[in-house]
Amino acid sequence: MTNPSQYASEIYLGGMGGTRPPFTTDPIALEAAAKQVLAPEPFWYVAGAATSGSTARANRAAFDDWRIVPRMLTGSTLRDLSTTVLGTRLLYPVITAPVGVQSIVHADAELGVARVAAELGLPMVLSTVSSFPLEEVAEANGAGTRWFQLYWPNDEDVCLSLLARAKAAGFTALFVTLDTWQLGWRPHDLDHAYLPFLTGEGLANYWRDPAFLAGLEKSPEEDLGAALMRWLPMFTGTDHTWEQVAFLREHWDGPVVLKGIQHVDDARRAVDTGVQGIVVSNHGGRQVDGAIASLDALPGIADAVGDQVEVLFDSGIRTGADVLKAVALGARAVLVGRPWVYGLALGGTDGVRHVLRSLLADLDLTLTLSGHSAPSQLTRDSLQARR
Ligand code: GLV
Repeated sequence: MTNPSQYASEIYLGGMGGTRPPFTTDPIALEAAAKQVLAPEPFWYVAGAATSGSTARANRAAFDDWRIVPRMLTGSTLRDLSTTVLGTRLLYPVITAPVGVQSIVHADAELGVARVAAELGLPMVLSTVSSFPLEEVAEANGAGTRWFQLYWPNDEDVCLSLLARAKAAGFTALFVTLDTWQLGWRPHDLDHAYLPFLTGEGLANYWRDPAFLAGLEKSPEEDLGAALMRWLPMFTGTDHTWEQVAFLREHWDGPVVLKGIQHVDDARRAVDTGVQGIVVSNHGGRQVDGAIASLDALPGIADAVGDQVEVLFDSGIRTGADVLKAVALGARAVLVGRPWVYGLALGGTDGVRHVLRSLLADLDLTLTLSGHSAPSQLTRDSLQARR
């Protein structure tokens, strides 16, 4: 197995004189690069956050509050970045996050990440609100590991139908997003009066769903307004309860993961429901303004429940060092979203591949140069708190 940092050699040595990569290798510069190629509406739909942006900024700032303490002469030339998540052996502690409605940034949309995730050996989590139906994404993902994210519909028949279709298409775990039963206050989208779903984008899974279609007199193609009026109240406006988690466990044959946990008591309740995993996430700062950084929630939650449930992390991951820090603070693996969506905007499937290869190379180099040869060696001793 070649190390992912091989990507650097390909760049420096390509054609012997070096081959400049098609897109930037600086993960922090990706957002500005994507801004150059996207119209303001889709750009801000991806980049934007709740109200003042303070939660999204806190997510990033929290990584800077922890510093890696490199160790020398540890013999970390040979390394193995693999780990096990939900019973599946992964090459790296990295998972592609569920990002909806990707057709607004590029026609390849979710098919791009489906192909690349399979190529690189990363599991993908597909959003309920994808631009392509889950069956087509599964086909593009082939033998890859795929998990399905559920926006829990307020309609039992549609919910059960989506679960059955996901299972039949080879999605082996269910990630239930708890924090987005209603969209947060997002000034960029509000100022643009822009919500792509209202033109029918991102709703392919519903448009293809027999239980959803059973409630319509005409197809969504014939009467978009009626289809939207059926979809809107089942997607938004009604929260669920802890007691209802049993329903999903009963109807999903496989691991269930609750996404959006930020409080230790909620993590404990998740354990009580018998799910296999949680994602410590604040939805990339898109939902609650003025909230704690997701990384600040992680160590306490990992301490409280890390031996009873698999703790995954997302919100703010941009660099290899970020992955390393989250793992050292108790995450078994991380989900990463916006960076490869910017790659998708820049170059479709090739852009997604470039961004994910760059992240894995950066992770590999940061891990080994800080004296570690496996994610399991990362502990809080690998870090020092800055404050
Ligand atoms: C919904 O998934 C969103 O965060 O836009």
